[in-house]
Amino acid sequence: MATRIRYAEIVDRGVRIGFGSDERVVELPSRWLRDHGDGPASVDPDTLQRRVDTFTIPTDVEPLELAFGDGRLTLRWSDGSTTQHDAGSLADLIEDRRRPWPPRADRTIRIDSDLELWVGDSGPFSPLSADSLDEADGSRQMLSTLHRRGWVMIDGVDAGQSAVEKLVERIGYVRRTIFGDIWELAPGLTEHLDSAYADTDLEVHTDCTYSHDAPGLLLFSCQERDGDGGESVLVDGFAAARDLAAESPDLADALTRFDYPARYVEPGVRLLAERPPLRVDASGRLRQVSFNNYDRAPMFPVDMWVDTVIRAYSAFHDLIADPARQIRLGWKPGRVLIFNNWRLLHGRTAFTGGRRFLGCYLNHEDLESRLRVEGIVGA
Ligand SMILES: [Fe+2]
Repeated sequence: MATRIRYAEIVDRGVRIGFGSDERVVELPSRWLRDHGDGPASVDPDTLQRRVDTFTIPTDVEPLELAFGDGRLTLRWSDGSTTQHDAGSLADLIEDRRRPWPPRADRTIRIDSDLELWVGDSGPFSPLSADSLDEADGSRQMLSTLHRRGWVMIDGVDAGQSAVEKLVERIGYVRRTIFGDIWELAPGLTEHLDSAYADTDLEVHTDCTYSHDAPGLLLFSCQERDGDGGESVLVDGFAAARDLAAESPDLADALTRFDYPARYVEPGVRLLAERPPLRVDASGRLRQVSFNNYDRAPMFPVDMWVDTVIRAYSAFHDLIADPARQIRLGWKPGRVLIFNNWRLLHGRTAFTGGRRFLGCYLNHEDLESRLRVEGIVGA
């Protein structure tokens, strides 16, 4: 049952809320509130995907006016925006989302030395040919490239689902999700409401931050293409993590300690999961990058969010959004891209014309298994 908010008032660094049946009072930081509206200016009403650009909110944003009634809080801000908030949801967040700061003495982030981290376009690359995969060592070369660099491109792949299945079998098997097994991606498809189905720019992200076990690999197979734009954008998230750790160890460390929640909503579906953007194992070895600001769910409203959590998240965003870190890959029918969704971030430039892809997910554990079986990594 939703907790009740009794009053709300503007104070020096945000908004003071009195809530619950006793005398509990909490001050919500300005930047957090500005980021966490739930009205149509802040989130898409159907999918709840965020419309707020977290990273352009002025750090000194302040509330100018507050209205509270009918269970809704409305705030007008110094940057000209207005946000709305369901008071019951705010109170529930205050109650439930506080997180401790777990101590960890060793703050080093280690990255496996056999990975070839990259920053931006390192010159021309040659896609593998589909025919070469049938040659001795062909599959092994594909797997080795995928492992070291985090992505591989293959040209000359036949159209249709069975060619995708054949390729997937060289690694593992298709991971079924709410999107199905092998799904179709084209503008105008309305089966799912996700922004991936539009034709606009898509900022780099990892997929399925709302899944406890996000798929480890993503495969796109271009079936049809005419028009301009629509390049795939890739960024090496492990290289960005390494560089953030070198520049700002405190911020990189924070990204390993806080769970960032994410959600996916459509009729009949409400997925919710959370994990740190940089997931390390107990020894500090980086295992997974998770970052998708479109799908991020509300986070706990404490000063630490402004002082550390969002500062760390923004610093990582600044790195991965830097065009100098990106590679851009164009498409033509018969071209397939497979990449590691636990390491690389992907996006897409806006496009015109028609295009149709088949896509699917694979599990990370099956890639790891195949790498061991092929002797590419140690058993
Ligand atoms: Fe995506």
